[in-house]
Amino acid sequence: MVCVRFRRDVAIVGVGMTRFGELWERSFDDLFVEAGLEALEDAGMGGDEIEAMYVGNMSAGRFIDQEHVASLIADRSGLTPIPCTRVEAACASGGLAVRQAILAVASGMYDIVLAGGVEKMTDVTTEEATATLATAADQEWEAFHGVTFPALYAMIARRHMYEYGTTREHLALPPVKNHRNATKNPKAQFQFEITVEQVIESPLVADPLRLLDCSPVSDGAAAVIVCPLEMAKEFTDTPIVVRATAQASDSIALHDREDITTLKATVEAAKTVYKQAGVEPEEVDVAEVHDCFSIAELVAVEDLGFVEKGEAGEAYHEGMFEIDSDYVAVNPSGGLKAKGHPVGASGVAQVVEIVEQLRGEAGKRQVDGAEIGLTHNVGGSGGTVVVHIFERAD
Ligand code: COA
Repeated sequence: MVCVRFRRDVAIVGVGMTRFGELWERSFDDLFVEAGLEALEDAGMGGDEIEAMYVGNMSAGRFIDQEHVASLIADRSGLTPIPCTRVEAACASGGLAVRQAILAVASGMYDIVLAGGVEKMTDVTTEEATATLATAADQEWEAFHGVTFPALYAMIARRHMYEYGTTREHLALPPVKNHRNATKNPKAQFQFEITVEQVIESPLVADPLRLLDCSPVSDGAAAVIVCPLEMAKEFTDTPIVVRATAQASDSIALHDREDITTLKATVEAAKTVYKQAGVEPEEVDVAEVHDCFSIAELVAVEDLGFVEKGEAGEAYHEGMFEIDSDYVAVNPSGGLKAKGHPVGASGVAQVVEIVEQLRGEAGKRQVDGAEIGLTHNVGGSGGTVVVHIFERAD
C-alpha cells in the first residue's frame, strides 16, 4: 500500500497545460479545453473515458463576469452529462481540485477523473485584479482598510527581517533563481533573467516588496488525469504515484496568528504528508512551492522543513535550491513568479511540473535523478494550504 489512508492507490497518468501569460486572444473555456486535451493526449485516452471533473477557479465571476464555471467547462469540453465541480480556495483552488480528484479515485467512487484549473485575469485593470485578489483576505479586518496581498506579504517580510535578520538581498534570491529557471520553460510568462540589483531597484509595490518580488497577473490553464494505480499502466509506461495528500486551514486574517513569519497551515499539511508517505523533508528531490511573493518562498522552504526557521536567506545564498543542487530543487518551472500565476490554475500546474520532472521529461530544466516530488499550494495568506507528495512508480 503506497498511501496508508487511501482505499486504493492512485496515480497521475496524463498532464497538460497552456502557456501562461497575457493571452488576450484566448477565452477562459478555450484555455481549459486546450490544457484538458493535452492531458488526454498525454494519457492516450479519449474524453469519453473521463467520469468526473474538478475545476479549480478562484474568481471568474469578477475577472470575466462568469459564474457557474463547472457547467461551462463540462459543456465546452463536450463532456456533459458527467459531474463537474468547481473548487474554490483562492490561490489554492487548483491544488484543492487535484486533491478532490485524488480522493474521488482513492475512495472508489470513480476510476478516471480530470482535475484542472483555469483563470483569466488580464481582461481587467491591475487595480481591479488587486481588488479581486483581496477578496481572499478578511474583508472586515483587512481588505476594508485597504490591505492588498502585496501588503500582507510585505508585513510577513518585515517581521521575518526583524526576527531572523533576513536582508533585502535575501528576498531577491528566489525571484532571481525562478526567472533563471523560467528561461528553460517554454510555457513560462517571463523567459528572461533578472539580477539581485534589478529586483532591489525595481518599483516599490508594498515596502519592502518591489515589482520583481511579485508574481504577475496571468491567464492560463492546466489539467491532470487521475486513475487507480492498478489501471495506470494501460495509459502510460511512467505512472506517477500519489504518495500523500493533505490540506490544512488557518485564520484568514494575519492578525489572528501567533507568529506571522510561519504559515501554520503549511507546517500542519507538511507534517501530515511526510507521515503518510513515510518521507523526510530531506528526501524530497524536487518541489514546486507557492512563491506568490519572494518572502513566500523563503517562508515555504522553512515551513516545509527543508531548512531550519530563519535560515532560508542564507540557504538561498549558498544555492541550496537550484536545479543542479545536491539538495532539493525548488521551483524548476520558474514558480509562480516567472512561470506566471493564473490563480485557479497554479496548483494544478505545480503538479504538471512535478509529474514531468519525475518522468524525466522536463527538458533543459530536468532535475537529475528526481524520484520524490512535492507540491505546495497556498490560498490567500495561508488560510488554506494543500501539499502533495508524488513518486515515480517503476
Ligand atoms: N514581475 C515582473 N514583471 C512584471 C510583473 C511582475 N510581477 N508585473 C508586471 N510586470 C511587467 C510587465 O510585463 C510590463 O512589462 P513591459 O513594460 O516590458 O511590457 C511592466 O512590468 C508593467 O506591467 P503592468 O501590468 O503595467 O504592471 P502593474 O504595475 O500594473 O502590475 C504588479 C504589477 C506587481 C502590481 C502586479 O503584477 C501584481 O499585482 N502582482 C501580484 C499579483 C498577486 O497578488 N497575486 C496573488 C498572490 S496571493
